[in-house]
Amino acid sequence: MLNRVNAPNDLSAFWMPFTANRQFKQSPRMLVAAKDMHYTSADGRQILDGTAGLWCVNAGHCRPKIVEAIQHQAAELDYAPAFQMGHPIAFEFANRLVDMAPDGLNHVFFTNSGSESVETALKIALAYQRVKGQGSRTRLIGRERGYHGVNFGGISVGGIVGNRKMFGTLLTGVDHLPHTHQPAKNSFTKGVPEHGAELADELERIVTLHDASTIAAVIVEPVAGSTGVLVPPKGYLQKLRQICDKHGILLIFDEVITGFGRLGTPFAVDYFGVKPDIMITAKGVTNGVVPMGAVFVTSEIHDAFMNGPEHLIEFAHGYTYSGNPLASAAGLATLETYKEEGLLTRGPEIAPYFEEALHSLKDEPHVIDIRNIGLVGAIELDPIAGEPTKRAFSAFIKAFERGALIRTTGDIIALSPPLIISKGQIDELIDHVRAVLRAVD
Ligand SMILES: Cc1ncc(COP(=O)(O)O)c(C=O)c1O
Repeated sequence: MLNRVNAPNDLSAFWMPFTANRQFKQSPRMLVAAKDMHYTSADGRQILDGTAGLWCVNAGHCRPKIVEAIQHQAAELDYAPAFQMGHPIAFEFANRLVDMAPDGLNHVFFTNSGSESVETALKIALAYQRVKGQGSRTRLIGRERGYHGVNFGGISVGGIVGNRKMFGTLLTGVDHLPHTHQPAKNSFTKGVPEHGAELADELERIVTLHDASTIAAVIVEPVAGSTGVLVPPKGYLQKLRQICDKHGILLIFDEVITGFGRLGTPFAVDYFGVKPDIMITAKGVTNGVVPMGAVFVTSEIHDAFMNGPEHLIEFAHGYTYSGNPLASAAGLATLETYKEEGLLTRGPEIAPYFEEALHSLKDEPHVIDIRNIGLVGAIELDPIAGEPTKRAFSAFIKAFERGALIRTTGDIIALSPPLIISKGQIDELIDHVRAVLRAVD
């Protein structure tokens, strides 16, 4: 079996996602196994996972409870529909999720990914306004540099130009808040930056332009992840909440990255003390092992749909695999693992150490900013003139060759290790990055 994985004889059939396909296929970086904090590469090396896969393997790799739960579930009930039918494990998982979610987010809609969770949340927001008799509220407000997956709703409210420019006119009726990155004022901040809360007031400007009666919802990542870790300025999320409340606009937090312990608290809602009306999750909900997403909503939103004749479907939306038995089993075992090991609240113990280690890179070559919160951090590099992204990509390749998986976006290195990382492994990861920064052109 391993031989087959180790030696693929043709790489061309798989059109790889978000990948420089030609570069990869000339010198492939293959992972063939994983355990706890490490991957094993096809050439037999141990690779320290500095990114929890893709910000998702929060409990580390191949954890026994999760593996066993999936094996057992596959043998007992492999698949069952969730349209007009049910299977107990999806209900059990929904209950457990709601128990641990911030107060008031009492119902959960299952999807298969972050992107689908985003689409689901946007559709719930629009439909909610309509069932409340406010059908004129159709506008959606996102934010520059936001990442909300790759489907049409998500790229419309998202703000990463490379993900948008190829795909036509996108959704209509979308506007964007400015991003919160202010390097001149906040560079090398440890944790939450001081400056920039007033950027939330731009929502008032947008409301003045369009009128509140046309706006359904605002969607933001509490901490913008994929664009390169932008931590919200002190008071910014509170302001957004106040302005949304003032104008009857729903607030959606996309916690696909921040959910399930990334900030050292179960959710960003817990970290910042600001509650949205809809909370989007995916990734860590199943430790990334089986694809799944979960969208949390308040009872007020859920109950608004529970009207009309009882034989009618209340919300015309769902996926063949919503609440899939294998995903639900993986999710339940994931939550148990998180709980048994205290992983979702490891912040106070480990985040300060991670912060100091990360900021020790300040004077290394090419570094123009470092940002961090919880167990996520970014090191921004000065781009090579006329060749943006090249320096960071070369750092990524060199890190892999040395034995560390890091992630780069633009000219930013992002680190988000599994929450089981030890202090020694943090040192090791930072040492790899230091060596790479000294080695790249
Ligand atoms: C904030 C946020 N939303 C949505 C997504 C999309 O998730 P997926 O890739 O599972 O569709 C991501 C993925 O990184 C994300 O970071």
